[in-house]
Amino acid sequence: PARPRVFSGIQPTADSFHLGNYLGALRHWVALQETHEAFYCVVDLHAITAGHDPKVLRQRSRVAAAQLFALGLDPERSTLFVQSQVPEHPQLAWVLGCITGFGEASRMTQFKDKSQKQGSDRSSVGLFTYPILQAADILLYQADAVPVGEDQRQHLELSRDLAQRFNSLFGKTFTVPAPHIVKDTAKITDLQEPTAKMSKSSSSPAGIIDLLEEPARTAKKIRSAVTDTGREIVFDAEGKPGIANLLTIYSALSGRDIDDLVAAYAGKGYGDLKKDLAEVVTEFVRPIQERTNGYLDDPAQLDKLLAAGAEKARAVAGPTLRAAYERIGF
Ligand code: ADP
Ligand code: NA
Repeated sequence: PARPRVFSGIQPTADSFHLGNYLGALRHWVALQETHEAFYCVVDLHAITAGHDPKVLRQRSRVAAAQLFALGLDPERSTLFVQSQVPEHPQLAWVLGCITGFGEASRMTQFKDKSQKQGSDRSSVGLFTYPILQAADILLYQADAVPVGEDQRQHLELSRDLAQRFNSLFGKTFTVPAPHIVKDTAKITDLQEPTAKMSKSSSSPAGIIDLLEEPARTAKKIRSAVTDTGREIVFDAEGKPGIANLLTIYSALSGRDIDDLVAAYAGKGYGDLKKDLAEVVTEFVRPIQERTNGYLDDPAQLDKLLAAGAEKARAVAGPTLRAAYERIGF
């Protein structure tokens, strides 16, 4: 039987993915290749909704794709492509926009949050219609499943509503995507502010571990991570968020249970934990960096891989768009 389809996208809005991106999302992308037919997209159309520099965007899209291949996305098994190379995305988004209520779109909390930060008069129409483009991304591939974190639940709900609405207005065209809830998805927090999410918009670069940064710099950040003033290494996300975060990262990258780690560090100090974790993380990123650089050092080959990905994507997206056009009378 055919494998279920999964779709996911990530924005090329930083010079490197960070450890939170990897542990919260990208490692699951890699794992899903085993069970699903996977479509993964570097969503550069989404990345221009809040202002950008063209040169930087182009470079970031390439580095994002190189990192994804380096992390283990296999172009033989999965389809990895850059969104702007598949024109069906904005074409379907227009159609879906025409069956989305203005009020419905206005209720998206992520738009409210982001536009509030920018000053709502200055935020773009693209930022407002972003979730509609996201629905098009998913529906074009007839995705059965979409891995989602809490922050994307409302957007996936909109995608489901739009699929159902289109199907009932014009006839069955789209698969209604279901959330793929990943068990034990690690939420990684900021090393300097251990109650806040590690994020590219974190207030201090010392709080974020970028996959592509100098390993010595990573080791230093881990050694300087904020912890409490206690001495005991136990997992207590409320009382000891800094130590809990270090244990979470350690466990996720080493495959060792948190309980095992706690037992192994009984009687040892925070400094020992940090020193060992620094080694675990730097050993983890080193080969990823080497492979990423390998892809970036051969731009023609990377272009070829991405062109092939876009072609595979269009082989699915094209027929979906044509079916939708046909049903609406084009
Ligand atoms: P950022 O928070 O740095 O802006 P994005 O919002 O672009 O990152 O997130 C890309 C993906 O990485 C999403 O699937 C998101 O849930 C995941 N992610 C981001 N930060 C973390 C984190 N600190 N812990 C776990 N997952 C995260
Ligand atoms: Na974010």
